[in-house]
Amino acid sequence: MSETIEFSATVSATTRNGVLVVTIDNAPVNATSVDVRDGLEKTLAHAEAAAGLTGVVITGAGKTFIGGADIKEFGKPAMDPTLPAVIEKIENLSKPVVAALNGAALGGGLEVALACHYRVAAPAAQVGLPEVKLGIVPGAGGTQRLPRLIGIPAALDLITSGRSVKAAEALKLGIVDELAAGDLVEAAISAASVLAGKPLRRTGELTIALSDTAEIEKTSARILAKARGQKAPAEAVRLVTSSNRPLAEGLADERATFLILRDSREAAALRHVFFAERESSKVEGLEGVEPRPVRTIGICGLGLMGSGIAVAALGAGYSVIGLDQTAEAAEKGKERIIGLLERNVASGRLDQTGFEAQKARLSVTATDADLAPCDLVVEAVFDDLAVKTSLFQRLDKVIRPDAVLATNTSYLNPEEIAAATVHPERVLGLHFFSPAHVMRLLEVVRCAKTAPDVLATGLAVAKKLRKLPVVTGVTEGFIGNRIFSAYRREAEFLLEDGALPHEIDAALEDYGFPMGLFAVYDMAGLEIAWARRKRQAATRDPSARYVEIADTLCEAGRLGQKAGRGWYAYPDGRRTIDPEVTTIIEAARTKKGITPRTFSKTEIVERMLGAMGLEGEALLAEGIAARASDIDLVMINGYGFPAHKGGPMFSRS
Ligand code: 3HC
Repeated sequence: MSETIEFSATVSATTRNGVLVVTIDNAPVNATSVDVRDGLEKTLAHAEAAAGLTGVVITGAGKTFIGGADIKEFGKPAMDPTLPAVIEKIENLSKPVVAALNGAALGGGLEVALACHYRVAAPAAQVGLPEVKLGIVPGAGGTQRLPRLIGIPAALDLITSGRSVKAAEALKLGIVDELAAGDLVEAAISAASVLAGKPLRRTGELTIALSDTAEIEKTSARILAKARGQKAPAEAVRLVTSSNRPLAEGLADERATFLILRDSREAAALRHVFFAERESSKVEGLEGVEPRPVRTIGICGLGLMGSGIAVAALGAGYSVIGLDQTAEAAEKGKERIIGLLERNVASGRLDQTGFEAQKARLSVTATDADLAPCDLVVEAVFDDLAVKTSLFQRLDKVIRPDAVLATNTSYLNPEEIAAATVHPERVLGLHFFSPAHVMRLLEVVRCAKTAPDVLATGLAVAKKLRKLPVVTGVTEGFIGNRIFSAYRREAEFLLEDGALPHEIDAALEDYGFPMGLFAVYDMAGLEIAWARRKRQAATRDPSARYVEIADTLCEAGRLGQKAGRGWYAYPDGRRTIDPEVTTIIEAARTKKGITPRTFSKTEIVERMLGAMGLEGEALLAEGIAARASDIDLVMINGYGFPAHKGGPMFSRS
């Protein structure tokens, strides 16, 4: 092996068997920052000129090949060389360039690999073009080279979904040429040596395989319908489906589109979300704190929520002991959990071996003492203070003193539950969203006495469950339900002031919510919120504005979709505007002497966002949420706020 040549601070190379082995080392994810691009450009010039070199291998240091373009450079003045310029030089080098994919090759990382003349992947590698998730399209050849390599239908799927595929699937699709069974770089060096002196297969020169245009049109229409007004998926469809044209023309169109999208509000919002997700796990006071080891999780209450939590825990590799009140209830819970696992098998998310392994890690009981081996116990029983505190007092007697106790309450005060236990320092809240095995958000509730390592344990378990944990302080409804209450309240004020449910819903859906608020109410049923309002009636501030319309609907038996009527009517199951609801709303306005006025969609959305924003400011001022971006994550991942709008707090900026 020759001496190491440093082409830049992040790109260095050694020569092995006449092949220049180039390593990109730009922690944390080897993004193609300007120093990497600069180093690569110099490397290529060196390789072209050096008579003794027969080929080049490009690989990444650490566990990533290249994580993509450096998103932190977006929004800054352009710095040469650009990534497309470097990539063009890779493709046009007269000597073979082999990509040795040691880990994730994403976005610009895969675009670098696509321009190489051969791709060898380690089994742990994965490839993808996730740009649409950032509100952009691939900007360095992805939309033009990938269809040349794997055809338009497969490229359309990958680019518009942004999903990444593992090495084995990448091989099957034809994105990579070889999987390295042994040493990756050795395999890549061998490949470069074999290719030396032969005509090179340049991806940009390949002709695109003919495919069924009707099928492509159908797929494109489906993607556009799902995009709900977002620009990037539509542009990705356009670029991929038109890729059968001269490469230079396609690349120029792609770059121009990329630059416009990169500077758009939508892309700024999605970048905000990307960084917010990484930021949210940085919690004050937890630096250097080790979580407690967790192998076995106890789950109390095996209803819908408890079963969902169990499925998530089994999927993450934990052993689960489920507790319910009677042996029959426990057995029924077990059946429900297994039913959910079977659904995962049916949908292809879980194979038969995985299913058997997960089933083997599940046991259920009606005896508290059987929870003794648990490292963490999560309760998901009826949301009633007396029920939860007495359960925790029982658990205190049977689980180890160092085991963590988590309550999954939505509205109760976890401080009161913690205070009723012998070791309040080991109590925290884990507020799952339903269905718990599907929804990504997990509010991790820090009580006054929660020990730092207990909070760290909650976060570590959440990560292992592949959830998005957001830490919240204690307040009625935590972050999400407090903001949601403000949002709901404002919608009801709007009703009294002159808007109708379908007008508010249409404005929200146009903004990007998957479903309007009143349609969601009807789907969920109105009775639980009604019961809560009745409970709170005695303590409600009499001077605060209170809208009675929802109560009137409930009193009239309009309890939502299941009852056939709620905020809408459902003749033959289809949601329709109901004049009876309009009459109830008008009567409520008259009773309060309100003269209704009309609201534009923009006004409706502004009022709703304004209310959420104000409540968010209050949560920050009270120290309940650590940062505005945490609030955005909660509303996006738990309440349908459109990610491409960045969240209620981002939308104020
Ligand atoms: N640019 C800048 N910083 C990045 C980055 C990127 N592309 N990708 C990740 N980072 C940063 C994160 O912000 C985080 O920083 P922090 O430690 O200060 O919080 C750090 O790298 C580690 O990130 P993760 O916590 O996500 O690390 P993981 O090991 O869990 O995951 C990964 C690694 C799979 C590469 C993941 O980071 C990822 O998915 N990154 C984004 C991939 C992506 O979207 N690439 C496309 C970029 S756009 C593009 O390439 C345009 C091109 O077509 C021209």
